[in-house]
Amino acid sequence: MAKFTLPANSKVTRGRAFPAGSDATNTREFVVYRFDPASGENPRLDTYHVDMDRCGPMVLDALIKIKNEIDPTLTFRRSCREGICGSCAMNIDGTNSLACLKSIDDCNGAVKIYPLPHMSVVKDLVPDLTNFYAQYASVKPWLETQTPPPPDRERLQSKEDQEKINSPSACILCACCSTACPSYWWNSDRYLGPAALLQAYRWIVDSRDEATGERLDALEDPFRLYRCHTILNCTSACPKDLNPGRAIAEIKKLMTERRH
Ligand code: SF4
Ligand code: SF4
Ligand code: FES
Repeated sequence: MAKFTLPANSKVTRGRAFPAGSDATNTREFVVYRFDPASGENPRLDTYHVDMDRCGPMVLDALIKIKNEIDPTLTFRRSCREGICGSCAMNIDGTNSLACLKSIDDCNGAVKIYPLPHMSVVKDLVPDLTNFYAQYASVKPWLETQTPPPPDRERLQSKEDQEKINSPSACILCACCSTACPSYWWNSDRYLGPAALLQAYRWIVDSRDEATGERLDALEDPFRLYRCHTILNCTSACPKDLNPGRAIAEIKKLMTERRH
């Protein structure tokens, strides 16, 4: 039987442990992935004991407290701290989530925090999203038109037509869905993944857009669209309760309809 083993430099080692202050009586353990590609060292898991009587309720509160008060070398992204910028996406307690929306009380035992899975790591909890953003740009996420706009007003849309794009427009491009998708793990060089496809769908169904045919043509490819096998991990992972899996199924339906 074939035996597989990880390359020695990819094995995650046990890292440092940081105790809480001696006056802390209500502590919680956070186990955090640390990796600095420039150091030449293996990734490691550092353990931080945080005084919960002096910490906010969300995982992002604990990470900020760790960085400010315990270990300033810890690196992670965050901006809005209210679930609208998408930058604090990471894998927490086994699922992709936004650290600012994930309650520490909802995690089991020691809170395990890793970067989004199957992405190159820039440092610690920061994944390299270069390919993810290039895929987003590739679906031309803007209005494409041939006809000039009305001279005296903007291009109008009915309430029903607006409602078709309402939900996909709420995507914050956090990448929780794409990095939870097995097809994206194995083929992210060629498969666009649920986040980019949700945005492709958003423009395909926009009643004001005049490039629907070209948009569908661009997805008519065995990998870009059809690597989706409707496993729906993407939809379960979305912290904004969007449904990229259904959007992908709708694109496939439009592809079939235009062939008949
Ligand atoms: S439904 Fe498609 S995009 Fe979503 S997780 Fe499954 S394969 Fe990936
Ligand atoms: S669909 Fe949801 S999980 Fe995917 S990028 Fe948008 S907000 Fe994030
Ligand atoms: S910090 Fe903006 S979504 Fe979490």
